[in-house]
Parts: sequence; structure tokens; C-alpha cells
Amino acid sequence: MNTVLINDTSFTLKELEQEVWKRLEKGALSYKDALHNPVVANVNTDGVNMRTVVLRKVWPPQKQLAFYTDKRSGKWKELALQNNISWLFYDAAKCIQIRLSGDVTLHHDDGIAAESWDGTTMNNRKNYSGRERPSSVVEFPLSGLPAVFETNDPTPEESTDGRKNFGVVITRVRWMEWLWLNSSGHRRATFTYLEDGSFTANWLIP
Ligand SMILES: Cc1cc2nc3c(=O)[nH]c(=O)nc-3n(C[C@H](O)[C@H](O)[C@H](O)COP(=O)(O)O)c2cc1C
Repeated sequence: MNTVLINDTSFTLKELEQEVWKRLEKGALSYKDALHNPVVANVNTDGVNMRTVVLRKVWPPQKQLAFYTDKRSGKWKELALQNNISWLFYDAAKCIQIRLSGDVTLHHDDGIAAESWDGTTMNNRKNYSGRERPSSVVEFPLSGLPAVFETNDPTPEESTDGRKNFGVVITRVRWMEWLWLNSSGHRRATFTYLEDGSFTANWLIP
């Protein structure tokens, strides 16, 4: 049979592709979701660089997803030079790994960044309000935030200071892989996207 049976529901490759995107979309909505904190990796002049991020937004029809960052960060500079990126998700309870790769666009001075900033919480905004840029060497273990923000969130007026540092990194996914660990034999599928969002898909031996 050309389907995979997951908890009594069978999925063709096409249905599985939709299911994975639904699952990613759900992952962006709650900080408690297993897919909320993926790892993203890129290459820089020293090799490969990885770090955890917050999955902020997913656009299934466009095959895009986003995280936010400080535009003074190392990753922003690296991605501006080399825009390939990989994402890694693992849902330990469901034993599902999702790997994605694609290329990014960086948004700072446009409608996407403005709309995203409008949707951020005051608590999140304070992360962009440090005077020193991320990765600055300091003499003591400092957060870099104005002292008052260590105990209080900024007011909406105070938070506007961080807007100049706020950036949105959007990935257009070119390739996706789903792996399900299973005591009766693992299952694996891969999806390669074309320019128009259509895709080719295959089952793979895990
Ligand atoms: C749970 C968690 C979530 C994080 N989310 C983000 C994020 O959404 N954006 C971000 O820039 N850094 C985030 N970080 C910090 C990064 O992992 C990383 O340490 C920092 O951004 C510096 O990376 P860089 O030097 O490669 O730019 C997060 C860290 C953790 C542990």
C-alpha cells in the first residue's frame, strides 16, 4: 500500500505533506509545542553554525516559515552573505523529526517586518533594545538590556527603541524530509519543491 498508517489514519505522500505543514503551523502557535523551538543552521566562513530559535510563523501555501532576530546578530550578517538555511525539528512524544532546507529573505525595513513587530509582545520586544549588539564582548555576564527591562517589560513607547534592530528571517522551503520512528519499523518521506510550490515526493528507506 502506498500510504503510511499513523494512529489509524492513512496518509498518501500528498496527504502527509499537508499534514506536516499543518503540524508546523501549529508549532508556531504555542511555546509549549514540541516544534516551537527548532534549530536552524547556516554556513559561514568558519564552517557550519547552528542555534535554537522560536518558530514564529508558517505559511503552508507559500512553503515559508519565519523566525525573528536582532539584525545586528551574527546570523543576520551570515545569511546576508549566504542565504541557504536548514531547519531541524523533533517531536519527542510523537517520535517525528522534520528537516527542511531552503533560502532566506531578510526583512527589516518593509511591511513584513512592520506587521511582525506590531504582533510582538512587550516581553519579546525588549530583546531588541540592547545598546550593544549581540555577541559583543563584555567584562561581566551582562544581558545588555537597560537595567529597568530586567525587572519590567518596556512600555509600548519604550519598546519602540528596539524596532530599529528587529528583523524577520523568512525561509522559502526547497526541500523537506519527514521521519517517523516506530517500533515496527521507521518510515521516511522526502519532498522537493518547485518554483510554483508544487512538489515531487518519495518514500525513503529510513
Ligand atoms: C529556546 C531558545 C529560543 C531562541 N530563540 C531565538 C530566536 O527566535 N531568535 C534569535 O535570534 N535567537 C534565539 N535564541 C538565541 C540563539 O539560539 C543564539 O544563541 C543567538 O541568537 C546568537 O546566535 P548567532 O550568534 O548565530 O546570531 C534562542 C535560544 C533559545 C535557547
